[in-house]
Amino acid sequence: MDITGAVYQIYPRSFADSNGDGIGDLGGILAHLDHLQALGVDVLWLSPIYCSPQDDNGYDISDYQDIDPAFGTLEQFDELLAAVHGRGMKLVMDLVVNHTSDEHPWFVESRSSPDSPKRDWYWWRRPRPGMAAGAAGAEPTNWASAFSGPAWELDEASGEYYLHLFSPKQPDLNWENPQVRQAVYAMMGWWLDRGVDGFRMDVINMISKDVGPDGHLHDGRPVEGSPYGDGSASYICGPRIHEFLQEMHQEVFAHRDGQLLTVGEMPGVTVEEAVLFTDPARAEVDMVFQFEHVDLDHGPGGKFDPRPLRLTDVKASLGRWQEGLEEVGWNSLYWNNHDQPRVVSRFGDDSPAHRVASATCLATLLHLHRGTPYVYQGEELGMTNAPFDSIQDFRDIESVNHYRHAVAAGADAETVLAGLRWTGRDNARTPVQWTSGPNAGFTTGTPWIAVNPNHDVVNAEAARADPDSVFHHYRRLIELRHTEPVVALGDFTMLVPHHEQVYAFTRRLGDVELLVVCNVSGDDVRADLPGGWADAELLIGNRPDVVVPGEEGLLRPWEARVHRRTCGNQ
Ligand code: GLC
Ligand code: CA
Repeated sequence: MDITGAVYQIYPRSFADSNGDGIGDLGGILAHLDHLQALGVDVLWLSPIYCSPQDDNGYDISDYQDIDPAFGTLEQFDELLAAVHGRGMKLVMDLVVNHTSDEHPWFVESRSSPDSPKRDWYWWRRPRPGMAAGAAGAEPTNWASAFSGPAWELDEASGEYYLHLFSPKQPDLNWENPQVRQAVYAMMGWWLDRGVDGFRMDVINMISKDVGPDGHLHDGRPVEGSPYGDGSASYICGPRIHEFLQEMHQEVFAHRDGQLLTVGEMPGVTVEEAVLFTDPARAEVDMVFQFEHVDLDHGPGGKFDPRPLRLTDVKASLGRWQEGLEEVGWNSLYWNNHDQPRVVSRFGDDSPAHRVASATCLATLLHLHRGTPYVYQGEELGMTNAPFDSIQDFRDIESVNHYRHAVAAGADAETVLAGLRWTGRDNARTPVQWTSGPNAGFTTGTPWIAVNPNHDVVNAEAARADPDSVFHHYRRLIELRHTEPVVALGDFTMLVPHHEQVYAFTRRLGDVELLVVCNVSGDDVRADLPGGWADAELLIGNRPDVVVPGEEGLLRPWEARVHRRTCGNQ
């Protein structure tokens, strides 16, 4: 793994459509590689493109070794991979092996009979003792699914339930079974043989379940106001998770040369666990996606019950991760992905007056931390959340199910919608805005989800033509990472941790030191920063137009600056 690079995430369905069916595809990605090369990213990560009934937009896979016809063919994939490599970039696949689709042949076989040789490839359990299959509360445990309702689905034919931590069309694989693990490793090897450069591993810290010797799974903590409990203690970083990841490393990666990248998506992971996962000596994964900083604005009712974000909480959280992984392990850095609302709307200010400054401020802040930064498609354009009107405008299974369950349980529909508009995943999934033309240049047909009407202003064509755009700021940040080793590798020291508007820190590597100062607010702000920087070079700033001579301590709305000095020059 090259840890000085930047990764760009593509959500193929929403990236670019090459054949007019309204769905982004491999041809669309091929057609836009210039954009990615101009941005200067090192690695592309593709969200799932495998065969899938698309219940969860491809995170429900029915064939791991073929491309969904909506996205293209294996031949086209090879062409894309060669083109990506030809431009000096790498390509990382999404690996979704906590669960398959219920239409995967493994599950079809498993479901066919309790005597099936693949029965034990999934989590089949009888109803709760003393209860009839299908009765309310008869599920084997009280766990809620991440997409509303119970985590168990009854199979009428056998009278047994199967586990699905996500949708009923995403049955969980049983990693206790060594045959499952070997089948997964073989599939991973097949992709690596094809030339891919690694994997982003979907909810990989959920593959080990806490199962008793008799096969018993435990009820979770009850959740107020819900018939279901929180089972996460039984499957977040479960008892065998490190063993499984070490085994995977040993079987899949250890004997291969090359700079392969592995990143584990890990909801609920702690800093202490992350150190173990990313300690090179333990050979598990290169880095993890943690969720702490993107959960800080979740209220008591969860992600759809948002509360205002406090900058001091962000600093405390990201700062703790910087510190926790400073000696051993490695951070990944992200604001956005296909599961998160757009950062400029969420933590910045997407009004015309502040959109560019706040997007570039947040980008500077993140990219100057120690770790590997991830840019999610459209983030480099300052794309915003979408103006969803009614529930009909949403496509995501999580949002649609949440609405249905919450409204059925008596919640006010408008309040539920307001929550979806704020944190719903569809905000990230509206089509990439390439031009100001029809459908933002995404498709010549009807897009599967509406294009954000602000593409008249926010689009790649305009951004590339404007040197002060969000795009060029991201490009400069990535370039800086490539040319200035302290950006990726330097030590990190947080400054002014209690300031509610200023996020500032220093970085140091050898005799090079950086001072990063960001005004995360729409006000003019003064920060009490350490002295000795007056003559330091301004490496990059997002508002060079507004620095007033003699007023270096004054930060304009959403201003971000990075200064550089060498020791001896203090
Ligand atoms: C991960 C994915 C998300 C998906 C879920 C189930 O969190 O990022 O999009 O819905 O796993 O696969
Ligand atoms: Ca298409």
